[in-house]
Amino acid sequence: MLTRTDCRCCRGERLVEVFSLGEQPYANAYLTEHQIKEPEPKCPLVLMECQDCGQVQLSHVVDPETLYSNYAFMTSSSQGMKSHFSEMMQRSVTQYVPANGLVVEIGSNDGTALASLSGKNVRCLGVDPAENLATVAGQRGVPTLVAFFGQDVANEIVNSHHGPADLIVACNVLAHVDDLDEFCQGVNVLLSNEGALIVEVPYLQCLIDRAEFDTIYHEHLSYFAVRPLVALFERNGLHVQHIERHEVHGGTLRLTVRRHAYEPRNVAEWLANESVPPDWSAFRANVEALRMNLIDWLTKMRDAGKVVWGYGAPAKGTVLLNYCGITTDLLPVVVDSTSTKIGKHVPGTHQPILAPCELLNWQPDAALVLAWNHAAEIRRKEADYVARGGWMVVPALNRNKE
Ligand code: TYD
Repeated sequence: MLTRTDCRCCRGERLVEVFSLGEQPYANAYLTEHQIKEPEPKCPLVLMECQDCGQVQLSHVVDPETLYSNYAFMTSSSQGMKSHFSEMMQRSVTQYVPANGLVVEIGSNDGTALASLSGKNVRCLGVDPAENLATVAGQRGVPTLVAFFGQDVANEIVNSHHGPADLIVACNVLAHVDDLDEFCQGVNVLLSNEGALIVEVPYLQCLIDRAEFDTIYHEHLSYFAVRPLVALFERNGLHVQHIERHEVHGGTLRLTVRRHAYEPRNVAEWLANESVPPDWSAFRANVEALRMNLIDWLTKMRDAGKVVWGYGAPAKGTVLLNYCGITTDLLPVVVDSTSTKIGKHVPGTHQPILAPCELLNWQPDAALVLAWNHAAEIRRKEADYVARGGWMVVPALNRNKE
């Protein structure tokens, strides 16, 4: 574990602590029956803000091998994410990729996004450090290089795939990268002159406005706003051309980044409208109110003899349960559709993870939607549970958008 003392975006050293969740277990390290009897590794989760460019990042960096060599999350587990990525891929390929051109996805997970291009006349390659996911992607017909992306990997791809990439896609991966300069230099090696890098990152403004503290965990090293990102790319000879806002993952930015400084389409407006620095004291107060309300509600439910389960075992669920101290006496079980999570336990608070069909078998009085970013999809799937009188409760206002 390392402590990061400079800003990932501008390299400044004026970092100030703005929020702490204390010591927390690794959010995606689901535990076997045997492991819940063992002591668990924990690490501080502390947000620092750069006083120069406004970048927000974690103070501690966990060894990436610990977090990623066997990764539990699979993109394909959500229909909403599948259609989101498919739309992005189709649109970007139409705009930037000639016939037989090369599309590289960094952080390609189980190959879901690239698989949506099957039938198109393009060559695809995934890059992802998780061996288990690369195997799944391969079974889908998506060749995947098991590696952390950087200049060496970029050179390897250029040499082995006959030329540079016309499109590089990096969705929900930049926040996981410690050395962002190395990442950008890799893009400079791999991207063709006229090509485009499409980046998606969760948006800091949404985290603040909606008190999405549970999206803070060890894998997410950065919490991006537009200003620090533009500075990062410019410093590395890359230029943000266009910015869009999407609702996935609690509020996401999609940036189109080019090697040439084309006329930026809407970057100045975004920079002008961004409220920096964020109101951290309001954020802290909102998080505390959310925590108190949740514990109060769960305690009342338990005391009234009602049973509440968690729906979804996302990383953010681990953070929410651990930060709020919600153990099995208040919430005895969670359900999740991911095969690699079923049969395991939530880190820290140890709820067993069952398959979603158990919700109908047991019909608990309420389900707390820990995977709140998929709330609409989950509500649709569990219409029978609701029709039989089950409550679906989202842990905060404004969070139930897909
Ligand atoms: P995700 O959105 O990736 O959140 P995080 O980044 O915090 O891990 O994870 C969503 C989780 O919710 C994942 O474990 C799958 C689960 N899930 C279900 O169990 N049922 C569903 O219908 C959906 C959409 C997701």
